[in-house]
Amino acid sequence: MDAHLSSLGYCSRSEAKKFLSKNLVCVDGVRVFDVRQKAYNNEITVDGERLDDECLVILMNKPSGVVCSHDDAGVLIYSLLPPRWQRRNPKISTVGRLDADTTGAILLTDDGALNHKLTSPKSEISKVYEVTLAEPLRGDEAEIFASGNLMLNGEKKPLKSAKMQIINPTLVRLEISEGRYHQVKRMFGAVKNRVVALHRVRFGEYGVEGLEPSEYRVINL
Ligand code: URA
Repeated sequence: MDAHLSSLGYCSRSEAKKFLSKNLVCVDGVRVFDVRQKAYNNEITVDGERLDDECLVILMNKPSGVVCSHDDAGVLIYSLLPPRWQRRNPKISTVGRLDADTTGAILLTDDGALNHKLTSPKSEISKVYEVTLAEPLRGDEAEIFASGNLMLNGEKKPLKSAKMQIINPTLVRLEISEGRYHQVKRMFGAVKNRVVALHRVRFGEYGVEGLEPSEYRVINL
């Protein structure tokens, strides 16, 4: 029980005894006092609430100014999660990264295998961005992005075909199926433009409608 509570961030292993004496922890409705109590397929509750799931998948509307990293300088995206989730082991990590100034849909999970699967180039998950540009479009961007031939500086393979929809001369929706480093900003750099604001509207089927910046919800994948 102590290892389980500690991996889910309720307390450290050394604090488990105190935690059990202070909180009403039940296994299948029976109060537990002993840290050595095993509870594999049983229902565990803490003060009447079901224990958090072992695998969490969270959809967040990332605000601007937070970084998707455990160790970079600045305000970490994880600081927006409840303290208990921040203490989990394995840690909750973002599925891929958004730049500090990019906003919108991002998944976070403590399931390493799932994270790996979703970020693998083979997954080809669709990501839709709303892109605000410094300069009006020149007219050939959609064709260049759709071609499947665009080569970014320093890359060995051209980008996969991407779909661009024009909303107005400095605002587009761009759908890509890869997740290369600074991909959207570099794509517009390649057509002599500059991204001034970037918002990810959806990651796969998950959009941020109904979530204010910094808000999140647990999803079932
Ligand atoms: N492409 C970028 O350039 N930045 C992001 O944050 C995401 C995609």
